[in-house]
Amino acid sequence: MTETRTGSWWRPYRTLGETTVFHVDLRPHAGHEAASLAWLDAAEQHRLQRFRIQGPGRRFSLCRAALRAVLASRLACRNERITFEVHDDRGKPFAMVDGAPAPISFNVSHSSDHGLIAVAPRGRLGVDVEQRQPRRHMDLLIDTVFTEPERAVLTTAEGRDRTDLFLDFWTMKEALIKALGTGLSMDPATFEIPPVLQRGTKRGTFRFPDLPAVTWDLDNIGNETYAAAVAREMIPEPAPIREL
Ligand SMILES: CC(C)(COP(=O)(O)OP(=O)(O)OC[C@H]1O[C@@H](n2cnc3c(N)ncnc32)[C@H](O)[C@@H]1OP(=O)(O)O)[C@@H](O)C(=O)NCCC(=O)NCCS
Repeated sequence: MTETRTGSWWRPYRTLGETTVFHVDLRPHAGHEAASLAWLDAAEQHRLQRFRIQGPGRRFSLCRAALRAVLASRLACRNERITFEVHDDRGKPFAMVDGAPAPISFNVSHSSDHGLIAVAPRGRLGVDVEQRQPRRHMDLLIDTVFTEPERAVLTTAEGRDRTDLFLDFWTMKEALIKALGTGLSMDPATFEIPPVLQRGTKRGTFRFPDLPAVTWDLDNIGNETYAAAVAREMIPEPAPIREL
């Protein structure tokens, strides 16, 4: 199997510093779906068989195959040498090559027809994508996951604008949670999206209240079709060695 950076159903979408974000086309496509199966290992084939409905299985297969192709290219190794492990019971996957942790960072998200894969040589990463469509129980979710200042901004918008703003805020929070890797154990109402990003600026920096030593770059990378965000851990440059 050839190792490519740009395949027929995934392609580079954004470059942010050392991070590349790939878009993955998750629409039904018999050829892509069949090709994706060839990239999956036995554990992934087994997981695929356990999906009871088509959509989630197709999204997993197309996204995981694209992820494997991107990692194989970046790591200059054959797909067969790559396996995935999870950090703990919270489930954030990381890559191994020949059984040893690979020197690469990534995160994946999928929503309806769209997948995003963020990949970088170092630092924790989180990515989230949500197709722009009306959400059920949006007001309840607004009351549950957002802080009072965030709710105040959301209530200034109406109709379609409100849904769009809700999804922008949601993906930014989710990208931060996914970068940290805590999953549902973190209460999203305990931290706030940087005010500049709430006001529409596309990039800002962020610190979790309980983790002030780590700074994250947060980018709103959505478009008209989907809301999307990427959180990247800022790795301080090593101090220069001073000659005595
Ligand atoms: C996995 C989780 C982090 C996100 O799930 P999700 O939004 O349904 O799904 P996404 O498509 O964005 O992401 C799924 C991918 O994230 C990755 N992932 C799994 N667990 C993860 C974790 N703990 N941290 C980061 N990434 C994780 C996996 O690669 C997974 O894809 P795969 O199974 O095909 O490999 C899940 O724990 C969750 O639902 N968190 C919700 C937290 C919350 O309350 N959010 C409110 C938003 S404000």
